[in-house]
Amino acid sequence: MKIKNIAVLFSGNGSNMENLYLKLHNKTFGDIKIDFKIAISSRKDAYGITRCANLGLKCEVLASKENKENYDLKLLEILKPYDIDLVILAGFMRILSDDFINIYKTINIHPSILPLFKGANGILESYKSDMKIAGVSVHYVNNELDSGELIEQDVIKKIDGEDLQSFENRIHALEYEIYPKAVLKVLL
Ligand code: GAR
Repeated sequence: MKIKNIAVLFSGNGSNMENLYLKLHNKTFGDIKIDFKIAISSRKDAYGITRCANLGLKCEVLASKENKENYDLKLLEILKPYDIDLVILAGFMRILSDDFINIYKTINIHPSILPLFKGANGILESYKSDMKIAGVSVHYVNNELDSGELIEQDVIKKIDGEDLQSFENRIHALEYEIYPKAVLKVLL
């Protein structure tokens, strides 16, 4: 049995972090067991911090406004003791430096059919577009915004007249389905 140690980085609500933790933490898949060691929030007021406390997942806050390189050195310091096998970004709204991604295999979820609608407003831009489908992408992280080799991608059909909240709920439901699958694909 091999233990796979996970770190999750988030900036806000933390619903993907919580979903991943509930579906994967302390569970065995084939010959691996998944252990969520630590979460890091880039914002001190992120609701995900409360979720971590409720789950019993250790959470550190690293909210400094330093440049990318200095910020990432601090991230590396925090992660060092945990022998992390995979870093999972779950609504972490920062771009990571080469120094970080050269050390840790890192994956991200984005609420659109990449390469369309990158950035912080992927759901709204997909909703407003004239496309008939929308979707969710999970990808390896490189040093550009919402870019890197795709791991999983899935789509929903748009519904005529659907309001933004309902559309957003369906996108999040798809995220909760495909992110755990993508994590297992990467680890197994
Ligand atoms: C998710 O929809 C995720 O795909 C998105 O942020 C949201 C975080 O929600 N990520 C990006 O837009 C990355 N560019 P959560 O904090 O409830 O998981």
